[in-house]
Amino acid sequence: MSKKIKDNIDMVWHPYVQMEEYKLKPTLIVEGNGIYVKDVYGKKYIDGISSLWNVCLGHNNKEIINEIMGQINELEYFSLYGYSNKPSMELALMISEITQHRYKRFFFTNSGSEGVDSAIKIIRQYFKNKGQAKRIKIISLESSFHGVTYGAMSAGGIPIDSEQYKPILEGFIKIVPPYCYRCHFKKEYPQCNLMCANKLEEVILNEDPETVAAFIAEPVLGAGGIIIPPDNYFIRIKEICDKYGVKLIIDEISTGFGRLGSVLGIDNWNVKPDIFIAAKGISSGYLPLGVVGVEDEIYEMFLDEKDSNKKLNHGFTTTGHPVCCKAGVATLRFLQREKMIEKVKEKEAFFRNQLEQLKSISIVEDIRGKGLMWAVELTDEFDFTSLTYEIAKRKGLITFITDASNVLALFPPFISTEEELIKIREILQESLIVAEEKLSLL
Ligand SMILES: Cc1ncc(COP(=O)(O)O)c(C=O)c1O
Repeated sequence: MSKKIKDNIDMVWHPYVQMEEYKLKPTLIVEGNGIYVKDVYGKKYIDGISSLWNVCLGHNNKEIINEIMGQINELEYFSLYGYSNKPSMELALMISEITQHRYKRFFFTNSGSEGVDSAIKIIRQYFKNKGQAKRIKIISLESSFHGVTYGAMSAGGIPIDSEQYKPILEGFIKIVPPYCYRCHFKKEYPQCNLMCANKLEEVILNEDPETVAAFIAEPVLGAGGIIIPPDNYFIRIKEICDKYGVKLIIDEISTGFGRLGSVLGIDNWNVKPDIFIAAKGISSGYLPLGVVGVEDEIYEMFLDEKDSNKKLNHGFTTTGHPVCCKAGVATLRFLQREKMIEKVKEKEAFFRNQLEQLKSISIVEDIRGKGLMWAVELTDEFDFTSLTYEIAKRKGLITFITDASNVLALFPPFISTEEELIKIREILQESLIVAEEKLSLL
């Protein structure tokens, strides 16, 4: 690294990073290929989290890159304010097709957080247009992560994300998450009778159903610790939503499309949300892109020739950016042609078997996951996650410390081979054993 870059590394303010510490040992990534990235010194790392579950198809996919370059040469940008462009239409058609035409209306954003904010605005306006202006409240889960803009942060349930930025927006209410491993009610599924899902009904009734607009959740809570709901959780949630006219919004930003071995993560629970939000994997992170997919009934509530106020009074300059949408088109084409979603499903059992081997290490408490989204929960006696994270990084594997703090997450790229998944397990195993040795010294 040149002295000039090294001396000025903290000119770029990094998110969620203590810059005072970081500037002493920065990692400058300069290159990527497949599941690997390289730093400026030539050290190779396995990107075990698809760069924040973003680059799902791996780095340096020439097909996506060429499509992006082709689009830049044809039309780099023109706004959607009163005009259309081909890539956004092409992408909308493809998303409709992969979701089996359950959704036909799509609003594009530049990020996941913008997608969540857009969904919240859409649902509030939907009810206003429908003559139910009192329905403004949004219920979500403790430990959920929906992003960092004010709407998304207000929906999120990780206190540290909002503490310094209060007040959050009005009308956001939280309920307990379906965290079976550490059940809030100290019960076991199915004897628990889904008390966590039933909480939703209790809260809707307490708040007055006519004031509740939506319930929003991730299919699997990601940043909150890879929390996988039990089988009938979402079916019960949808039943409650339908009973009280509350819309179900599913945040698929870490799971769409394919991460859980299904197009939408929620497909695993056989539930159809009224709105879904996807980002990240939609363009494999090659360019910033997000999407809000809505059911026809919601979209139609914005159509009224005589009342211009009913239109969606919301949008970004770069909504439906042609080059970003083209990256989305290329990603979905690759995903479909290479049967990537089916492959993720097949790799689930293989990776589960690999990670289950870690259970013999005394500091490992739980292994859980779906598709290629996995958690290794460690004992919380000591900060073993930070230690394991650091050791694994030194050994060439990038993992992620979730907000549950004692949970390490793995989100390998969909293209990972069995040999590469074994390598991930081996490095993690060696790192956990080194961390475990520390326990005997405590
Ligand atoms: C489930 C979920 N929702 C929302 C977001 C926010 O997305 P973005 O960082 O693109 O704004 C993330 C990002 O990690 C996420 O995982």
